[in-house]
Amino acid sequence: MWFGERARQLCEMLQISLPLVQAPMAGGWTTPELVAAVSNAGALGMLPAARQSVDQLVAAIDAVRQLTTKPFGVNFLLAPPEPFDGDFRDMRATVGDLRAELGIPDSPAVAAAPPAVLEQQLDVLRDRGVPIVSFAMGNSRALVDRLRADGALTLGSATTVHEALALAQSGVDGIVAQGAEAGGHRATFDVNGADTLPLVGTIALVPQVVDAVSIPVIAAGGIMDGRGMAAALALGASAVQMGTRFLTAEESGAFAAYRDAVIDSDGSNTTVTSLLSGRPARTIRNRVLRELEASAVKPLPWPFQGTALRDIYEAAARSNNADFAFLLAGQAGALARRGQRAEEIVAEVSTSAAHVLQALGSATTAGARRA
Ligand SMILES: Cc1cc2nc3c(=O)[nH]c(=O)nc-3n(C[C@H](O)[C@H](O)[C@H](O)COP(=O)(O)O)c2cc1C
Repeated sequence: MWFGERARQLCEMLQISLPLVQAPMAGGWTTPELVAAVSNAGALGMLPAARQSVDQLVAAIDAVRQLTTKPFGVNFLLAPPEPFDGDFRDMRATVGDLRAELGIPDSPAVAAAPPAVLEQQLDVLRDRGVPIVSFAMGNSRALVDRLRADGALTLGSATTVHEALALAQSGVDGIVAQGAEAGGHRATFDVNGADTLPLVGTIALVPQVVDAVSIPVIAAGGIMDGRGMAAALALGASAVQMGTRFLTAEESGAFAAYRDAVIDSDGSNTTVTSLLSGRPARTIRNRVLRELEASAVKPLPWPFQGTALRDIYEAAARSNNADFAFLLAGQAGALARRGQRAEEIVAEVSTSAAHVLQALGSATTAGARRA
């Protein structure tokens, strides 16, 4: 087995053949076709539940089930809506010109909190026997207990050792350690008294989390190919979770200009900002972000900033306009490839990781013989 004992044990627990997880990516990019293709290739496909109604989640799970008999998982973002007085006039005025440029009405976006549907969604997972559930932006022992009682394995997301320890205490079956390179929202839920967002890089975070907890650790953030996968396994991770790499898969729902922006990005033009959704997320810098920065208007609280701008993001996606879209992506976008099916990505990354590890192993053995 090229990937070692830790990874083998995790694969056995999750009932998968390769220690590779496709990151759940909310926003419409993680289609059921992508999830099923990844699972069919022997890795683990993950559906995001964020911003999905109960009916949408049911439809997505059923669509995956039509396409695969292999295990797959569902992911939740646990951060509750922050207090908000409903006044978004300043934000509306700030983006008025962008709406006009896109040709969409200057109607106020919905200011109501999204309906709290977690309980109903959990019922859906239980009734449909979804075997793996991951979550980010929160930690809840009650949730972990409930999922275990329903027969699901749980993976919690941590951005620091402190968070990983808290998740382990809650009884999760594994930790997704999200390094600062990662695309998408920061999974952070406890800054542990710090007044700035922790941004610990993957290469620093993973071995520290591995040393701190006795459950499997899945490395996430900037891992795009076999070299990254081999490095993560060398750091003690039991698997990798890759998001940005799958954004450009044939089965992904990402629009063409988004894919181009990912491939054109070497990370130097990504940033972690709360301006686009109300919570820190790594995105590719574009015009909508520059306009919001220049306006100096405070973002609305989570998730209202995202709700207030949703029509802009959706119009941008419809018209294939990366300038006005919410372009979540990690720091190693340029390592993504065009025109690959998810199955090819899984095969390429894992085969290449095996070669890298073998080559390093033989180099070490030869070196030891010479010494
Ligand atoms: C477009 C996009 C959307 C994401 N949405 C979610 C999400 O809904 N839930 C979640 O736990 N993580 C989400 N993430 C973060 C991933 O789980 C993971 O940490 C990240 O993709 C790893 O870094 P990489 O993109 O460099 O591979 C998202 C990432 C991206 C790129």
